[in-house]
Amino acid sequence: MLTKFKLSILTGCLSTGIFCLLISACNNNDHTGQSTPVSHDQVVERGKYLVSAMGCNDCHTPMKMTAMGPVPDSSHFLSGVPQQDSVISPFTAEEIALIKQGGMIAVPPGGAFAGGWGISFPANITPDSTTGIGGWTATIFTNVFRLAKFQGIPSGRPLMPPMPQPAYNNLTDEDLHAIFAYLQTIPAIQNRVPSYIPFNQIAVKR
Ligand code: HEC
Repeated sequence: MLTKFKLSILTGCLSTGIFCLLISACNNNDHTGQSTPVSHDQVVERGKYLVSAMGCNDCHTPMKMTAMGPVPDSSHFLSGVPQQDSVISPFTAEEIALIKQGGMIAVPPGGAFAGGWGISFPANITPDSTTGIGGWTATIFTNVFRLAKFQGIPSGRPLMPPMPQPAYNNLTDEDLHAIFAYLQTIPAIQNRVPSYIPFNQIAVKR
């Protein structure tokens, strides 16, 4: 049966190029167990769906204050903690004690997070080429999740909480590629996110 089918493909290929293309698209799905090739648009759409469902916006988009409380400011979609929010006011002894007990503090206004790891700043994941991920390859992006390394550099520093890397590392390569492809299509916003502050360098109120 299978042999006959392949034979008919061969005949088709020999007679017309179009027929060949049609059959190989179907054949790919039915006989090899591989999924049908998806278009770039479909990949981007999948990435958009994942980004919207996985809460990237909650941390990576700065908040604006509304009557209903803080909401992500869509005009700064995924552009990270604003550059001007690099100055973190010194922490009280109580805040430091809380952090030492395993607590986490969301630091207004920019949306940095303070915890036992220090102070981390959700990154600019828009495609800006100097301050975002515009110059990245899909491999660099995947390395962030697979190796838990900042900027996907294998010898670099570890990626800090609360980026949910352990959970996101369960994503397939296809899904990570889709997220990356989608992020390359959103508006590029120039914003140099403040640098990570190690725990022993957190300023304390005297
Ligand atoms: C709970 C908050 C939170 C959520 C949700 C979150 N992130 Fe992050 N993310 C962070 C923080 C904080 C950092 C900075 C970590 C650091 O400096 O080490 C970060 C860093 C990153 C980096 C590395 C940037 C760099 O320059 O190395 C990427 C890429 C990233 N996040 C993508 C995503 C994507 C995509 C999603 C959604 C699927 C997401 N994040 C959801 C908090 C979050």
